[in-house]
Amino acid sequence: MKNIDARTKLVGLLGYPLGHSLSPIMQNTAFKRMGLNFLYIPLETEGKDLSYVIDGIKRMNFSGFNITIPYKIRMMEYMDELDDLARAIGAINTVVISKGRMKGYNTDGYGFVRSFEEGTGLSVRGRRIFLIGSGGAARAIAITLAARGVGRIYICNRTEKRAIELSLSINQHISQCSLGIPMDRNEIKKVLKDVDVVINTTSVGMYPQNQDTPLDIGLVPADATVCDIIYNPPETMLLKGAIEKGCRTLNGLAMLVYQGAEAFKLWTGVEAPVKDMFMVLKKQFNCCG
Ligand code: ATR
Repeated sequence: MKNIDARTKLVGLLGYPLGHSLSPIMQNTAFKRMGLNFLYIPLETEGKDLSYVIDGIKRMNFSGFNITIPYKIRMMEYMDELDDLARAIGAINTVVISKGRMKGYNTDGYGFVRSFEEGTGLSVRGRRIFLIGSGGAARAIAITLAARGVGRIYICNRTEKRAIELSLSINQHISQCSLGIPMDRNEIKKVLKDVDVVINTTSVGMYPQNQDTPLDIGLVPADATVCDIIYNPPETMLLKGAIEKGCRTLNGLAMLVYQGAEAFKLWTGVEAPVKDMFMVLKKQFNCCG
C-alpha cells in the first residue's frame, strides 16, 4: 500500500467474526511490494440483512472483497454474475466490482491445486484422491480437482450422507469421477491402496483437536502425498505420522497464499508477489504461533 489518498482503491474481508485473519497483512504486504494504491481492510459485519452493506460497498471506491464465514454461501444471492466454478462449488470467497456490478468467484480450490502442483512438481490431472471431509473447503477443493481432470475422488466424512451428496454433485456437474465411501476401516483400507493423494479438509488436527488425527496413517501407502489444509499448527498429527512413514507432505500455508494471490490478481490484474506473501505469514507464525 502507498500512502492513502483520494485515489486509494479499497478491498477487504467481509465476515463475522474475523478473529485472527491473516488476509489483511498478507494482501497489504503484496500491494506495497507491487507499488499499488490499494488498501485491504477488515469489514466485520454482523447481520441478517446484508443488502445495506452490499449497497454501501457498491457506492464506495471498492474494487472488490473477500468473504469468509458465515457468508460464503449467502453472499451469492447479491451477485450480478457468478463465475462457473463458483456456481458449481455453491459458495464464493472473492468478489470483483467493476462498473457497479459484482461478480463472485471461489479461489479456495485454485489455491489448493496450485499449492499441490508447485509443492510437488506434479500435475493433479489423473491423480487418485482420498478426500476427508465434506464441508465448504472440501467442496471447493473437490469440485476444482474434478474440473482439472483428476482420475478419481473418494470422499469420506464423519457424516456419511454429506460425502455421498458431495460426490453426487461432482458426478452430476463436473465429471463422473467421484465416489462417497463410508467411515469404515476395512472400506478405507481397501480404497487407500488405490490412492496417490490424501487430503484432510476437516478441522481435526487444529486446536483444540491438535492431538487427534482424522485418519489412521497406518493405512496410507508410503508413496502417497498427504496434504492437510490446516496451517496452524504447521505439522498436524496426520502430517507428523505421514512424515515418519516417508510420505511426501503439504500443509495449508501455500493454499492460503495462493487463494489470496488469485484474488489479488482478479482485483488488480497483476501477478501477486507470492514470495513476499509467504515471508510475511511465516514471520507471523514465528512471533505469534
Ligand atoms: P469448512 O467450511 O471449513 O470446510 P464446515 O463446512 O463446517 O467447515 O466443514 C467441516 C468439516 O469437518 C465437515 O466435513 C465435518 O464433518 P461433518 O460433516 O460430519 O460435520 C468435519 N469435522 C469437523 N469436526 C470433526 C470431527 N471432530 N471429526 C470428524 N470430522 C469433523
